Amino acid sequence: MLTYSKLDTLTAIYQRRAVRSYISDKIERGTIEQLLHAAVQAPTALHAEPWAFVVIQDKTRLRQYSSRAKAMLLGQQEATLHFQKSEPRALAMLSDPEFNIFYDAGTLVVVCCKAKGPFVEADCWLAAENLMLAATAQGLGTCCIGFAIGILNTPEVKAELRIPDGGAAVAPIILGVPREAPSAGTRKPPTILKWVP
Ligand SMILES: Cc1cc2nc3c(=O)[nH]c(=O)nc-3n(C[C@H](O)[C@H](O)[C@H](O)COP(=O)(O)O)c2cc1C
Repeated sequence: MLTYSKLDTLTAIYQRRAVRSYISDKIERGTIEQLLHAAVQAPTALHAEPWAFVVIQDKTRLRQYSSRAKAMLLGQQEATLHFQKSEPRALAMLSDPEFNIFYDAGTLVVVCCKAKGPFVEADCWLAAENLMLAATAQGLGTCCIGFAIGILNTPEVKAELRIPDGGAAVAPIILGVPREAPSAGTRKPPTILKWVP
């Protein structure tokens, strides 16, 4: 079991930021296994533990998936219209042949579900957050890659990655040694709709 003496929980929560630039050091299997153990400590509805994991450390494979994900997103009229209207920067990035949606990170961890169900996605995202906080506590960087979800759920890629037919790729998370300390995050204060004393 991991002992996290480096950062307490709140410090990890406040220090975690999306990291989009990595040095090329490969993360050891043992470290990733420890992060997966932290991931599966997440709360899980009905104690279902619906998650399973794919780890990809092959940069060529990641570049291929990146190119296919970009082509897929640019081919989806609805997605393109949305980006045109509200995320023009994302559209420019996706149209750039040099842009790697995985930011050249050496590791992609995909939190998958073995079967679909009402609370399954929530459980998987909670596991993903545990993984990201545990990585932060170890001095590692992470970033969710929503751009990858479509391509990872094509029947072809699911078969390649042994994701069960009835399951899905839910939360793709890149992992690596950050090139530089990410800047402090900004958040609006929480909106409290009502407080019933
Ligand atoms: C569901 C989800 C999908 C995301 N997809 C992407 C993505 O495809 N590419 C990317 O660079 N960042 C992605 N992000 C990261 C967000 O852009 C980032 O969390 C947000 O800007 C807040 O920054 P912070 O994480 O540093 O606080 C995603 C985050 C979430 C929660």
